[in-house]
Amino acid sequence: MKHTITLIPGDGIGPEIVAATVRVIEASGVEIEWETHIIGAQALEKYGTTIPEATIESIKKNKVALKGPLATPIGKGFTSVNVGLRKALDLYANVRPIKALPNIPCRYPELDLVIIRENTEDLYAGLEHVVVPGVVESIKIITEKASTRIAKYAFEYAKSHERKKVTAMHKANIMKLSDGLFLECFYNVAKGFPEIPADDKIIDNACMQLVMRPEQFEVMVLENLYGDIVSDLCAGLIGGLGLAPGANIGEQGAVFEAVHGSAPDIAGQGIANPTAIMMSGLMMLRHIGEFEAAKRIENAMMEVYTEGEIRTRDLGGTAKTSDFATAIIGKIKA
Ligand code: NAI
Repeated sequence: MKHTITLIPGDGIGPEIVAATVRVIEASGVEIEWETHIIGAQALEKYGTTIPEATIESIKKNKVALKGPLATPIGKGFTSVNVGLRKALDLYANVRPIKALPNIPCRYPELDLVIIRENTEDLYAGLEHVVVPGVVESIKIITEKASTRIAKYAFEYAKSHERKKVTAMHKANIMKLSDGLFLECFYNVAKGFPEIPADDKIIDNACMQLVMRPEQFEVMVLENLYGDIVSDLCAGLIGGLGLAPGANIGEQGAVFEAVHGSAPDIAGQGIANPTAIMMSGLMMLRHIGEFEAAKRIENAMMEVYTEGEIRTRDLGGTAKTSDFATAIIGKIKA
């Protein structure tokens, strides 16, 4: 079966790692027609809008997109296009598996946990205003509907992936109403899943526990901002941002992307690690039912990592982005 998938190369290292991923996916034999779209700063320059209607329509039609990272100006300029895209398509669940790869020097080589991040509200609503000069208010939105929906997603995920526990992370001791509501919804949902143990941790302690004893966690469910920060922390536990994939899932579609950003410090040099976006591509292939192709690519990638000769610079190697893709393709075709 031929699939049509929206492809957003993105900014910075995006086009380099996305091109490597497309090569690898195509080598697996799966038939895909890519509909390439631009968004963000590139779209602003070309069409005068950061999120062109055609991009949204393409994802709504195809239901699946593979997306490179998008740059967001700091402290000024347009609002985050990633946040805009997630809102426009109501991609409420951000799923981020954190699993160490073979033969990678890292703090926790056995680590295997999953972050489920609420993707539509919290401080990410971007509701900020100047109250009086020198005083700014930023509004944190937490709703019963979104908190219940993400908790359900986390428990369903734990059930379908045979995970043993779901942990909510929060700051309900201080934000008694907002984080309190998130936590209350979590435990209400937990009652419907008596076979899956549920617990919670205050976010600051949770971060310390993640660094000291991360193996105690299985599936973690967090509000938007905590989920964002904890994702990078967890990527650091398994060897860095080049290794952490992700999916944004909603009723209207799914957008697959790495946890990391556009890495402007290394963009254009062909040295970025494409593993995270490739693994996001594997999540995408499984989402569309291409399990065999996903397994073929995953096995090839694991072989390359196990041999340890072809590694990108972030992992102490000298391989270029394209060398890594070529090595995987070599294994797929072997
Ligand atoms: P970043 O994730 O782009 O980079 C942080 C550090 O990790 C940099 O030193 C970078 O070189 C390294 N790194 C990231 N990905 C790598 C890879 N695949 N291979 C090797 N090294 C890698 O975070 P930063 O610098 O804070 O953000 C840069 C831009 O990315 C900003 O405009 C930000 O808004 C955007 N961003 C976009 C995201 C998305 O599109 N989902 C997510 C996070 C940030």
